[in-house]
Amino acid sequence: MGAIFCALLLAMQLTFIQSAIPRVYIKCSVWDSGCLARQAQIKVPALTSGIPELFTEILDPMLVNFARVNLAGLKMDLNNAVIQGLKNAVIDRINIDTASRQIQLVYHTDLTMKSRYSAQGSILNLPFNGDGEAVISAKKVHMEYLMPFDISKDAFGRDVIDLKGLQYWFDVKDNVRFDFTNLFYGNKGQIFSSVEKCSYTDFKCLKRSFQKALPLFTEGIPELGIERMDELVVHDKTYKLGGLDLTLKDARLKGLKTTVFDHVSIDTNKKVLFTSYHIEKCSMKGKYEGVGTIKVLPLRGSGEIFLKFRNVALSVNSTYVMENKNNKEYFIPKSYTFDYEVKDSAHFNMTNLFSGNEELSNAVLTFLNENWREVSKEFGKPIIEEQTRQIFKNVVKYFSNSPVTEIFLL
Ligand SMILES: *[C@@H]1O[C@H](CO)[C@@H](O)[C@H](O)[C@H]1NC(C)=O
Ligand SMILES: *[C@@H]1O[C@H](CO)[C@@H](O)[C@H](O)[C@H]1NC(C)=O
Repeated sequence: MGAIFCALLLAMQLTFIQSAIPRVYIKCSVWDSGCLARQAQIKVPALTSGIPELFTEILDPMLVNFARVNLAGLKMDLNNAVIQGLKNAVIDRINIDTASRQIQLVYHTDLTMKSRYSAQGSILNLPFNGDGEAVISAKKVHMEYLMPFDISKDAFGRDVIDLKGLQYWFDVKDNVRFDFTNLFYGNKGQIFSSVEKCSYTDFKCLKRSFQKALPLFTEGIPELGIERMDELVVHDKTYKLGGLDLTLKDARLKGLKTTVFDHVSIDTNKKVLFTSYHIEKCSMKGKYEGVGTIKVLPLRGSGEIFLKFRNVALSVNSTYVMENKNNKEYFIPKSYTFDYEVKDSAHFNMTNLFSGNEELSNAVLTFLNENWREVSKEFGKPIIEEQTRQIFKNVVKYFSNSPVTEIFLL
């Protein structure tokens, strides 16, 4: 969260540089830092309330029309931000070093920012989405500026300090409080309100509810950072399949919404969630690069890959723990084991095998398709594993954001 504040301060500092200090008139001897600090302190109210003659803007309250925060996992836009507190700044130190021509200014103050925000993404692996009001208050913000300068003459022939730039550091000594309204778009209630709640022991109900939640879940839940899964983006990756290195790129897996749950149960003593289900139809399309052997046949090429499966049966057993956050209990899946089998059929196709040599290419594709059941075991495993991992991650996101009382009948 500190990073958001950092970005805000940056926006603030930029405004500060542009507007506040085009010229600073010094009436103390430059080595008298006590006098300088007192002078600056006297100037704080004037500087922060704007000096029309110097074309400085009002700094307190400071208005920032727009700022965009772009952090690793988070995009946040701030609109119409009002930052208050600079007029209470207490100047701790000013040193003017005439040899290196640098001014050091240190002050502290409490700052608050009120703004409209709109955010998408996550912070520290927690989803963070919403659109509303943000209030951020920071106590005892310590700021330190380092400003190189030149001495030049102003229009009246007076020597003035002409600031050339600004570097700054800051530190929040006390604490920062963040309040965001409408986080998760106000979705504080049950996410799948149309899905029946079940007791842990009612396996029939659990199966029904999992089935009912499935299409809602595969559509994605943006407010929880859960991506759409009915066309799942397969992360680019190289798979080691026995003797074959297969790299997939720009691949998409379709068909998860044809999943049918066959069994769902929970063992509350061992803390395991058992699920078995089958995917009626699924297919994957993408780019591939392959080199090595599959069974005994050589395989080499790079082009398009297309896989089609009918009736993939899966069993996923997941351990879970109960966690307490803010006095609410959460059911958090932890690790899982899985098993799968392609029951009805599999079809494999790759373009540009052996640089387009049709004879070799047909031989390999015929082999793959005639031996689909065995090939699926080897060929399919890492790919299905990868998908299971991605889906599991999303399931964890869902459970981590929904107290058990919203999911189960207790
Ligand atoms: C899940 O647990 C059931 C019951 O203990 C077991 O029959 C099945 O093989 C397990 N599946 C996996 C993938 O571990
Ligand atoms: C693979 O796809 C190509 C292009 O769509 C098609 O011409 C070819 O018949 C397919 N081969 C197999 C084995 O499905």
